[in-house]
Amino acid sequence: MSHTLHPMRKPRLQRSELAVPASNPTMIDKAADGLADYVFLDLEDAIAPSEKEQARKNAIQALNDIDWRAKGKTVSVRINGLDTHYMYRDVVDVMEQAGDRVDTLLVPKVGVTGDLYMVEAMVNQIEQAKGYSTRVGLEALIETALGMANVEAIAQFGGRLEALHFGVADFAASMRARTTNIGGLNPHYPGDQWHASISRMVVACRAYGLRAIDGPFGDFSDPEGYKEGARRAAALGCEGKWAIHPSQITLANEVFSPPEPEVTRARRIIEELRKAEAMGKGAAQLDGRMIDAASERMAMNVLVLADAIAA
Ligand code: GLV
Ligand code: MG
Repeated sequence: MSHTLHPMRKPRLQRSELAVPASNPTMIDKAADGLADYVFLDLEDAIAPSEKEQARKNAIQALNDIDWRAKGKTVSVRINGLDTHYMYRDVVDVMEQAGDRVDTLLVPKVGVTGDLYMVEAMVNQIEQAKGYSTRVGLEALIETALGMANVEAIAQFGGRLEALHFGVADFAASMRARTTNIGGLNPHYPGDQWHASISRMVVACRAYGLRAIDGPFGDFSDPEGYKEGARRAAALGCEGKWAIHPSQITLANEVFSPPEPEVTRARRIIEELRKAEAMGKGAAQLDGRMIDAASERMAMNVLVLADAIAA
């Protein structure tokens, strides 16, 4: 290992993240009782300008009325972008009125680290002024060409930043990439046209101790397409994916949970390596394959996740 280490800043179970328009209190109530690990109450793109104020009020009410933690959920609010006049009011009202009840703020269309600096400064002041003992986290959506061009710098922001999300819909728009279905594959591209971008974001996350989350898949009548996208993201190191429809929650939970044989194998790897260690050896064999300290690190990733799911 390098002498420079960036441990995981804030582990959280985030296999499925349900996007809920805060304009719809019924959907919020259902989300609280659903199976998603994470719920974000959206004040941004799912909300029409005429509904922005009411949506903000609904989100605050839902944070205060629902005991999200007792329901085993992490709850987040997606604020509006820094280029809108809604954003400051989102931060001030949500943080002043429910800042000790929300786990994270999701900042859309982050382009430069200064975007996070501004939100961080605001929440620092509000938490101090209100005397909260809790500390809200920040998550950033990488969904513009500018954000992707600066993703390594953004990932190094530090402060409250704990995760980056790949927002494929806005990213496609920002890149002027031809796309047929949000998050789906373009049949005219030989492979996965999002591969390089997701991979770049995941590297930035893992280098600086952040969670990496894959964004939406628009066609909720295509569960197989969703799962394929989720599996590709998982293969690159993402630990969860958005659900833009409740039917996608169980798909995400399934794809991002280690299958039982993988967990059993991870336990056996650790056992065999312990035995080898007792005999003064660094490497061992399992089912005819070599295993060593790197296998232990991979196995521990699986076991930590399995424990978090079981908790
Ligand atoms: C999410 O916000 C996206 O644009 O994909
Ligand atoms: Mg977006």
